[in-house]
Amino acid sequence: MGRIVRFGVSMDEELLARFDGLIRALGYANRSEAIRDLVRERLVRHEWEEGEEVVGVIVLLYDHHKRELTDELIDLQHHHHGLVIATMHVHLDPDNCLEILAVRGPGPEVQRLAELLRSLKGVKHGQLAATSTGRKLP
Ligand code: NI
Repeated sequence: MGRIVRFGVSMDEELLARFDGLIRALGYANRSEAIRDLVRERLVRHEWEEGEEVVGVIVLLYDHHKRELTDELIDLQHHHHGLVIATMHVHLDPDNCLEILAVRGPGPEVQRLAELLRSLKGVKHGQLAATSTGRKLP
């Protein structure tokens, strides 16, 4: 991490009041920490958009009784083995499976894989949580 730099920001009074209200509700101790998080979030989004190597987690909830779906999910993951670095399977209850995939690769490819998995028949809910490898993020 580099040296800490202080800088001034000019902002509309009403906008600042709303921002202060929001960060208080979210539990931030001060504006600086809230602004740092906003900047990091935007930088991570930029890494994804630019197709840089990113990491993330794909969470899938699906119907345990659709046996052909299990095969399709495994086939897709093998086909994209370069993107899937780890998986965890949880037998949630007699009917539902929860699968968590740790993924790493170019942003658009990871996003595409998440869409392919999510759109399979029998997948009840699927979500991609995107973050950064951290290498470009102080
Ligand atoms: Ni299961």
